[in-house]
Amino acid sequence: MIYADFRSDTVTRPTPAMREAMAKAPVGDDVYGDDPTVNLLEAKAAEMLGKEAAIFVSSGTMGNLIAVLASCQRGDEAIMGRQGHTFLHEAGGVSVLGGVVINTIPNQPDGRLALADLESAIRYPDIHEPISRLIILENTQNACGGVVLPVEYCEQISAFARERNLLLHMDGARIFNAAVALGRPVRELAAMADSVTFCLSKGLCAPVGSVLCGRRDFIDKARRLRKILGGGMRQAGIIAAAGIVALETMVDRLAEDHALAKDLAEGLSRIDGVSLEKNSPQTNMVFIRLDQRVSVSDAEFEKQLKERGVLLNGTGPRTFRLVTHHDVGLEEVNRCVEAIKAVLN
Ligand SMILES: Cc1ncc(COP(=O)(O)O)c(C=O)c1O
Repeated sequence: MIYADFRSDTVTRPTPAMREAMAKAPVGDDVYGDDPTVNLLEAKAAEMLGKEAAIFVSSGTMGNLIAVLASCQRGDEAIMGRQGHTFLHEAGGVSVLGGVVINTIPNQPDGRLALADLESAIRYPDIHEPISRLIILENTQNACGGVVLPVEYCEQISAFARERNLLLHMDGARIFNAAVALGRPVRELAAMADSVTFCLSKGLCAPVGSVLCGRRDFIDKARRLRKILGGGMRQAGIIAAAGIVALETMVDRLAEDHALAKDLAEGLSRIDGVSLEKNSPQTNMVFIRLDQRVSVSDAEFEKQLKERGVLLNGTGPRTFRLVTHHDVGLEEVNRCVEAIKAVLN
């Protein structure tokens, strides 16, 4: 069966233009810095994000991990939202491999971290306590609904961090979705962070890879850390080529995913027993909740939808996430709405 797959934008497959670019890419040994396609992708990414340098990494998880390891020493502390991906879904890597403590504070319903909460989380010199070193923001904020952090808010956090001598890392896995939703250049959103990770392999449809951007000395350090983690890739131009096509041709079309998410949300909101959750959709994510009176269990709901050719992700008791992307369109949206209606009847 060909599924209408709303589980994530990571399920997107490379476009024909990407496959062609991959087949033709000039390559070299990237560990020696000899791969012209990787070098081009990194230069392009740094330029778009307005940073001095960039490094191609295997995943968003690796980008965030390297950013934290390059920013912190063992015993340092990173402060971030309780709904942050690095805290929830990256297997505790920053603590496992870097000895970095994560201190979480609540995300507000709109994804922000309150300045007062940040202020009270910061440690002041005391031998009993870890050393506050880094703040991590996420834009778009996935678990809060794929919500967009406003530029002015990020500027506030950036000034706050600078005044307190803290570094700021942006998990911008979907920063291009945020830029498109705000109608602002991505470099404006990246400007306030010392380092930014973004993903090529989500809504931008590349098969593999993320990019970490920052100051040149930071990226030099990141290159060593990537090697330590076993992330030095050789003829990586084969996959970087798809990333270049992603940056050149797939950014503006994210607006189509956002419009489709609105269509999906509208269709779902008209179903008896379903309500929209988490300020969604602001970008390409729709979160729904099933009413108490719906008798079908969460597992049965997913199973019956799968039988009808529709995939989505459960996110907690009675809540589900549906993500729009390049590989779904109106037909899949209609199939999804009709399938949910049928299961709930
Ligand atoms: C906000 C956010 N950050 C980081 C990641 C990690 O990316 P990857 O799956 O490439 O490791 C994800 C993945 O979905 C994400 O949603």
